[in-house]
Amino acid sequence: MPASVIDGKAIALEIQGEVAEQIKSRVAAGLRPPGLATILVGDDGASRIYVRNKRRACDAAGIRSFDHDLPGNTPQQALLELIDELNTDDDVDGILVQLPLPGHIEETLVIERITPTKDVDGFHTLNVGRLNSGQDAMVPCTPVGCLLMLKEVVGDRTGMQAIVVGRSNIVGKPMAALLLKEHCTVTIAHSRTRDLAGECRRADIVIAAVGRARMVKGAWIKPGATVIDVGINRIDDASRKSGTRLVGDVDFDETVKVAGAITPVPGGVGPMTIACLLQNTLTAACRQTGVPEPE
Ligand code: GUN
Repeated sequence: MPASVIDGKAIALEIQGEVAEQIKSRVAAGLRPPGLATILVGDDGASRIYVRNKRRACDAAGIRSFDHDLPGNTPQQALLELIDELNTDDDVDGILVQLPLPGHIEETLVIERITPTKDVDGFHTLNVGRLNSGQDAMVPCTPVGCLLMLKEVVGDRTGMQAIVVGRSNIVGKPMAALLLKEHCTVTIAHSRTRDLAGECRRADIVIAAVGRARMVKGAWIKPGATVIDVGINRIDDASRKSGTRLVGDVDFDETVKVAGAITPVPGGVGPMTIACLLQNTLTAACRQTGVPEPE
């Protein structure tokens, strides 16, 4: 039996609807709407689309979007000064600097400059430390989105073998921390792992976040396993008008025949990342304005 395909788009729409309702009641109670500042440096095509989608989702949910599009040659100091301004702007609850940044800018320095309570990406060391030590934290949006989709198909994750393929700060490491919190037995693998296929084959849950098109093969998957595909890779496809198409880090056509459940690309993790960003922004706004957070 082919795997069930987890509809990330539908789950994301549901979450976005809930966030929009919560914001409506907030505003009806006389509070200001939440505000999210997004900073895009340079004109990387993919980043531009991601940021555009984030801003549109903010508008649809009733979050004020403060858009900062900076040229690729923006000096690091100018970016840091913009963050300083946003840190003290009472209308701004969340600050998101789209990554990657141009090579002349030190990403760590920029992330560390964001006030941790406004760090809706959950990338600041304080939030990373809090997540990894089991404290309340801003948690990165993509891993939270993956976990929510996993919960749709796997009831109790306790004791399950989970593998995260990819060790980035944005996805791989926080994903592993979240799975540990779910009482999974977690392996973090990467492109240099010996016998990656064998490691994957032992897993009940596979999170593919390695950034290589269709690297995870159907033969690597234990029958019935849940596969969450974080990859978004553009490949050539002469049959398309555009000449390209998007694929994940998982070979979908092979894996759908073996897995129990799988996320598609597009329409899986991508929309969930945005939905979780809206949730984090609302949480940040509640904390900033001293009102209880939604459940
Ligand atoms: N680049 C790729 N994913 C992300 C993300 O979740 N947040 C930010 N800020 N940049 C990214």
